[in-house]
Amino acid sequence: MTERMPALHPWPLATLLERVEREWTAKREIYGLQGRRFFKQDPKADLSCTLGGHQVATPVGPAAGPHTQLAENIVLSWLGGARTFELKTVQVLDELDIERPCIDMQNVGYNIEWSQELTLTESLAEYTKAWLMLAVLRQWEPLREFLGETGDYAFEMSVGYDLAGIQSPTMDAFIRGMLDVGPALEKLRAEIPAAFADQRDVPVATRLFQHVTLSTFHGCPPDEIEGIVEHMMSTYDLDVTVKLNPTLLGIDTVSEILHDRLGHDEVELDPAAFAADLKFDRALAMIGRLRDFAAARGREFGLKLTNTLVVKNTRSVMPGDNMYLSGKPLHLMAMTLLERLHEALPGQLRIAGQDGPVPVAFSAGIDKDNVAEAVALGLAPVTICSDLLKPGGYGRMTQGLRKLSRAMGEAGAADLAGWQAAAAKAALAAGHNDAVAHRVADLATPEGYARYALPKTGKALREVDHQLEMFDCVACTNCVTVCPNNAFLSVPSSEMEGLEAKAQYLVLAELCNDCGNCTTFCPEVGAPHVIKPRLFLDAGNWKMRGKDGFVVEKDGTVRGGEGAEQIASILAQAPWSLVD
Ligand SMILES: Cc1cc2nc3c(=O)[nH]c(=O)nc-3n(C[C@H](O)[C@H](O)[C@H](O)COP(=O)(O)O)c2cc1C
Repeated sequence: MTERMPALHPWPLATLLERVEREWTAKREIYGLQGRRFFKQDPKADLSCTLGGHQVATPVGPAAGPHTQLAENIVLSWLGGARTFELKTVQVLDELDIERPCIDMQNVGYNIEWSQELTLTESLAEYTKAWLMLAVLRQWEPLREFLGETGDYAFEMSVGYDLAGIQSPTMDAFIRGMLDVGPALEKLRAEIPAAFADQRDVPVATRLFQHVTLSTFHGCPPDEIEGIVEHMMSTYDLDVTVKLNPTLLGIDTVSEILHDRLGHDEVELDPAAFAADLKFDRALAMIGRLRDFAAARGREFGLKLTNTLVVKNTRSVMPGDNMYLSGKPLHLMAMTLLERLHEALPGQLRIAGQDGPVPVAFSAGIDKDNVAEAVALGLAPVTICSDLLKPGGYGRMTQGLRKLSRAMGEAGAADLAGWQAAAAKAALAAGHNDAVAHRVADLATPEGYARYALPKTGKALREVDHQLEMFDCVACTNCVTVCPNNAFLSVPSSEMEGLEAKAQYLVLAELCNDCGNCTTFCPEVGAPHVIKPRLFLDAGNWKMRGKDGFVVEKDGTVRGGEGAEQIASILAQAPWSLVD
C-alpha cells in the first residue's frame, strides 16, 4: 500500500506566530491582510449576540469550508471581524482524496469539496492551535492598541454524515478531544515564541466549541438525522443545529428561482438529489420532535439555511458528474425556504416576527451588501463562504460589518435588537407582517433580485492574453486575496534588477492544497499555484513532495531547481523575513 500524501502540511504554532510578529512590525499586515482591512468595533454599534447562551461580539463568521481548515485562516477571519466560526466538517472518513481543482468561483460559486482534508487527529491539533492563537492575539499589546477589546467568540463544530460514522470510536475520540483540549493546550503553550512570551499563560478555555452543526449533505440519510441529533445531545450534552439543504424547496421552486427569476438556464438540476433528500413535510415533523427532545434536556435545537445545491457538472472546470452550487442564487433559495418555515412553524423559530425556541442560522450568498439585511431578520450566526473566495478575500467580511455598523447608526439602532426593531418597523410601514415577509417579497421583484441574477453574476473576469511565468506578472494581487489558505506571499520588486513587475508572488507550498481558486482569478493564462515558485519551509515536506519546488533554509538560502538564486534575492527584499 502506498502512503497517503497529505494535501496540506500545517505550519507549526511558532512559525505562524513569528510571522505575525514580523509582518505586523514591518508592514502593519498579518498574513497578507492589511491592518486597514481589519475590523474594528464601532463603539456606537453593539454587534454582539447570544448563541446557545454564549455571547459573541459579532454574529458573523466563515461558513464551514476552505476558510475553516487551517489555523491561519481562522485568524484571518477573526481579523476580518468573525466572532463565530463554523469549522470545516469532520467525518469518520478522514483520508479523502479530493479531486482538483475543487473550487470554481468565477460567477456563481461551485465546488466539489467534501469534508476536512486533514485527518481527525490533525484537525483537532489545528483547531486547538487556532483557539490558542486567538486568545494570544486578543491580548497581544500591539493589536490591542490597534483594535481595542475585540470581544468574545465561539467555535462551532461541524460533523457529517451518518450515524454509524458519528458513533465510531474515532469520531467519539475527536469529539471528546474537542471538549477538553487541556493537555494539548499545555504542550502548545511551550511553543509560543519569544515575541509573545508574556502570553504563554494567557487564560484559555479548555473546551473548544459550544455547539455542533450536522451537515445533512453528501448522502446523509434523512432517516438518520434525528438519530444523530439525539445522539449528540444525549451523549455529549450539546446544542445541535441541523444544516438543511435547498432541495427541501422541491425541484419546481428551485427551478423557478434559478431559471425563471435569475436566468441561470445553464444550470442543470439533478432530480436524483431532490429525490434522495429530506422532504418539507417530514422536516416540519422532525423539527417539532427535535425541539421537544432538546427542551426536555435543557438543550437548544437549531436550524441552518442552507448548504449548497447539488447540480450537474456541465462546466469543464472541475472533474466529476456533479458539483455544488453556492453564492448569489443560493441566497434566494435559502430566503424562500426561510419564509416557508416561518409560515409553517408559527411561534417556533427565533427570528424576526417570532420569538420561538428554535434559532435559525444562515449561510447562503451572504456578502458585504446583504449581511446587514440578513442580520436584521434575527438570523444568527450569519456565515459566509463564496464571497470570501472573491478578490479582497477576508477583507470583504470587514466591509460587510462596517456597512452593518453604519446602517445601524443611520437607523438610530445601538444594538442588534434595535436594528431588528427598525427592520420590523420598516416592514409594517411597507404593508408586510414582519421583516422576513418584507425581505422575501422584495427578493421576488425584478428590482429586488436583479443583483442576484445572471446579468450581474455572469460577468466575465478580466483577462490578459499572456502566459503566466514564474517571475513577473500583472501583479494584481488577486492570488493573494482569493486564497483561503493564505498560501501566497507578495514581495515588492520594483527596485529589483531583471524584474519588471512591482511585486513577485511566491507559493507557500505547505499551505496550498491546489484548490484552483487562484487560477480562476488570475488574469493571465496559467495556474499561479503551479507556475509561481513553490516554497517549502520544511525540508522533510519538500522531499515528501519529490523535491518539487524549493526549500528555504533558516539562513535564507534557497535550494531546488532553476531560479533558486533569484528566489533567494526576492526573499531578501521582503520587508520581513520568512525564516529566522
Ligand atoms: C469550497 C466549499 C467548501 C465547503 N465545505 C463545506 C463543509 O465542509 N461543510 C459544510 O457544511 N458546508 C460546506 N460548504 C458550504 C458552506 O458552508 C455554505 O453553507 C455554502 O457555501 C453557502 O454559503 P455561501 O453562499 O456563502 O458560499 C462549502 C462550500 C464551499 C464553497
